[in-house]
Amino acid sequence: MHALIVFASGAGSNCKAIIQYFECHNKARVALIVTSNAEAGVLAIAADYRIPTHVLQKGEAARSEFIERIEQIHPALIILAGFLWRIPDRFIQAFPRKIINIHPALLPEFGGKGMYGAFVHQAVLQAHKTKSGITIHYVDEQYDHGDVIMQAHCAVQTRDTPETLAARIHRLEHFFLPRTVDFLLAQQDVAAGNNDLL
Ligand code: GRF
Repeated sequence: MHALIVFASGAGSNCKAIIQYFECHNKARVALIVTSNAEAGVLAIAADYRIPTHVLQKGEAARSEFIERIEQIHPALIILAGFLWRIPDRFIQAFPRKIINIHPALLPEFGGKGMYGAFVHQAVLQAHKTKSGITIHYVDEQYDHGDVIMQAHCAVQTRDTPETLAARIHRLEHFFLPRTVDFLLAQQDVAAGNNDLL
């Protein structure tokens, strides 16, 4: 059983999609939800599914005690799903190729500091793009920059508002994020020789 850790600052719908997807496999489970916001909706989801949570303090993710706590869980993946704080370099370096992020646009466009939530969709609409989408990528020391794992596109319609575009993007995210996690876990299994395929 692989342990997953989700970092989320908001509603947590992507976190919920991951929990529900793996509910019926015994391949993985969300072992911990970390949030930067003690009011985040994701905490109610954690309570519903009885998943332990941790409300992060500023600067804490760079501290040894926190990194050790995460190491003890042996996460197969750490998934940033709407996590608004920058992850400190020290934390990133402690979990090489284990931290992934989902971004609600087609990187490298519409990424970087300040490009989150509705700001991303507003920028896509202002640029009169005819398509947008999602990017799931590894996390490195720069915002929205690490190697891309997958992208999925959707059309931008002339009558879209940031809200209607966000809803379409969320549907893509909820489908592709759990399946991409599943794919990455299968890759880890194959690399470790623990797979029925072999
Ligand atoms: C998603 O659109 C994700 O791409 C972005 O933040 C949003 C989080 O939504 N990084 P939710 O909290 O999972 O509903």
